Amino acid sequence: MIVKNAINSLYTSLKGGVLFSISHWFIYWAHHLSRMQMKILYILTGNIYMLYLEIVTTTRCTLKCKHCIGDIPEIKADEQYTMSFEEYKNYLDNLLKNIKSLKLVRILGGEPLLNKDIDKIIAYTLEQTKIKQVYLVTNATVMLSDKVVAVLREYPKKLTVDISNYSANETLLSRLKIKEIVEICRKNNITVNCPESYLWNPISPVKYHDRSIKENKKYYRACASLCVGMHKTPDGEAAVFPCLRAGTLFLRGIGGQVEGKDYFKLGGNLQKKEILMFHQNDDFNACKYCNFLDDKRKQVIPAIQKENPPISGVPSNTAVINGA
Ligand SMILES: C[S@@+](CC[C@H](N)C(=O)[O-])C[C@H]1O[C@@H](n2cnc3c(N)ncnc32)[C@H](O)[C@@H]1O
Ligand code: SF4
Ligand code: SF4
Repeated sequence: MIVKNAINSLYTSLKGGVLFSISHWFIYWAHHLSRMQMKILYILTGNIYMLYLEIVTTTRCTLKCKHCIGDIPEIKADEQYTMSFEEYKNYLDNLLKNIKSLKLVRILGGEPLLNKDIDKIIAYTLEQTKIKQVYLVTNATVMLSDKVVAVLREYPKKLTVDISNYSANETLLSRLKIKEIVEICRKNNITVNCPESYLWNPISPVKYHDRSIKENKKYYRACASLCVGMHKTPDGEAAVFPCLRAGTLFLRGIGGQVEGKDYFKLGGNLQKKEILMFHQNDDFNACKYCNFLDDKRKQVIPAIQKENPPISGVPSNTAVINGA
């Protein structure tokens, strides 16, 4: 028993210390090198080669996770949105006009399968030759519709259904349709990724930290967020933020974010240089409201639900919504 406890405490301290530092060191350098690569390629070719983009196609969700990395459950009913296909196409066209290629797009939310235009959104994304890989990220509480399956089966090499496996959370088991989704994907030759249920990093509530520019840069670099994310903004346009949480802060009117530095808009007059400058920035105001780096050292059961029911107007099952 004493030996077991000693091993456990050694493992825990390694995980929170040495192992955390080693894995973090790799992420830090991957992040740093990807930024450098974009700059070098821009200088050499005059083109933007983007590596990654997450797209919040709706802020609506079937779950209300206490530690949601995008702070989605914190968005009030009157701040919610769901992108229509026409809006989505407009945003994506504006971005693609300005870049040479985009390695990976992750279509998510909220829960993307709640968007009634999601089949058209996915199909349009997959048609874009500049986009190399597409992931559809779902919490597996909503079944894939026939229309969605029909689109997905057309692109077995380019598209992956990425199931967030929350089965370690027993309270959710009756709502998870993981088996059914995997089965329908396999039957239709759709690539599906369903990892073993994994633990989450807890997410501390938003709180202002009075960090100097130097400290804030250091914090962002250490966070090494690769999750550049597109949100719709309250003026009806869309913008790209350094992470999902930063986009949610903007929707909530928190963070004092400045256009051109903290985000770039996908409006008609977007310039390549803005995209480059955004990706080279490492002093994001949103980071001053975030404790992510310290949170990363701990782990919790995935998708623990907040006590209140899901945000008003959001059904807990398969309904699809648009135009909010
Ligand atoms: C914000 S969710 C949006 C898509 C969908 N609602 C879902 O849950 O899969 C995107 C991804 O972030 C992951 N995620 C959310 N909160 C997290 C946390 N605190 N720690 C680690 N991963 C988290 C989810 O598991 C999911 O794979
Ligand atoms: S399922 Fe949970 S993690 Fe995914 S968006 Fe909804 S609240 Fe966030
Ligand atoms: S707000 Fe900044 S520190 Fe927090 S997760 Fe986003 S990029 Fe990282």
